[in-house]
Amino acid sequence: MTLSRRKTLSLIGGGTVLAASATFGGFAATRTPHDAIAPWGLAGTYEDPRLNALSYALLAPSPHNIQPWQVRLEGENALTLYHDGIRTLPHTDPDGRQIMVGMGCFLEQMVIAASSAGQGVDLTLFPEGSGGPVAHAVFTGDATPDPLAAHILERRSCKKPFSDTPVPDALVNELEQSADIYTDAATVQRLRDLSFEAFLIETLTPGTMKESVDVMRMGKAEINATPDGIDMGGTFLETLMLAGMLNREMLTDPDDPGFQRAIDIYAKIMSSTPAYAVLTTPGNTSLDHIDTGRRWLRLNLTTTRMGLSLHPISQALQEYPEMDALYATAHDVLAPEGHTVQMLGRLGYGPAIPRTPRWPLKAKLIDA
Ligand SMILES: Cc1cc2nc3c(=O)[nH]c(=O)nc-3n(C[C@H](O)[C@H](O)[C@H](O)COP(=O)(O)O)c2cc1C
Repeated sequence: MTLSRRKTLSLIGGGTVLAASATFGGFAATRTPHDAIAPWGLAGTYEDPRLNALSYALLAPSPHNIQPWQVRLEGENALTLYHDGIRTLPHTDPDGRQIMVGMGCFLEQMVIAASSAGQGVDLTLFPEGSGGPVAHAVFTGDATPDPLAAHILERRSCKKPFSDTPVPDALVNELEQSADIYTDAATVQRLRDLSFEAFLIETLTPGTMKESVDVMRMGKAEINATPDGIDMGGTFLETLMLAGMLNREMLTDPDDPGFQRAIDIYAKIMSSTPAYAVLTTPGNTSLDHIDTGRRWLRLNLTTTRMGLSLHPISQALQEYPEMDALYATAHDVLAPEGHTVQMLGRLGYGPAIPRTPRWPLKAKLIDA
């Protein structure tokens, strides 16, 4: 079925008409990619404490949901974490910095989940130096449960417009213990403008745009078949795809109305932001990147506990020539003392959003 563009636009504009349609209701009910989100339901169902902790760890955030982790179990109580070398983002993350931040998120979620089963974890980072495994972990069998474990299954990166509701001062004060929080109107407006400009640069730079489009999974079948990357699913987007109003080619063609629609959607997201959370580090080594990931994961679980939404927006922090000027501006604004800005995130009250796809645990174990 192909609807004309005009007709579909009017359908989308009239959401109530759409929702009232029995056919559409049936379509909507079938759009959940059950296979791709199955790992969320399997978390915590394993006997081996390492598998149990890993089943939560793989629900951690990663850039472009690339899920760069690979794990080898060793002996009765140890494991080694590797970077799966085919999972890289050479255009948007040429130094592999964000990949390592994602690894830090994975490790922290593993440690938190292990603790809730009474397991301590002794971590050795980069046990063979740079270029080798990311971490070696020994499960030690005694730990105090970390209360943040209760929020792992509800944590999200919320890529939607937030409401105008300000973040209450009491929550800002608590979050400031672990991040820089910006709520003043002038800085918030500056960061809205900066992040949208950076998004435009990423989108109009052919290499970085193609990298994002290449990891887009368009519709339920693609999402289930390859449960990583940027999932373009759900009723609204799949309706656009069915109507021929959204596909990969349009998203790489600045002259296509579909491209402009995507820009408009993003402009709305970026402008609907009442506050920002920022993590910086004095250095910029792989250890700093892992540490940033661990801090970000804890921050994201804490915002989840508070009922707040958090959305990483990394474009202005990316290290490629077209972004140099905005990278410098971001650092002038957020780290005037010369630190490196490792994470920038929108903070506020967003809508509930669904779980994102994950590869199953089995796919992430070496020699399993
Ligand atoms: C280092 C890092 C950078 C990220 N950068 C962005 C970003 O620029 N834009 C974005 O929408 N999401 C970004 N994310 C969020 C991921 O896209 C998200 O974690 C992934 O899609 C899985 O979704 P979830 O966090 O809701 O489980 C980033 C995550 C990490 C760890």
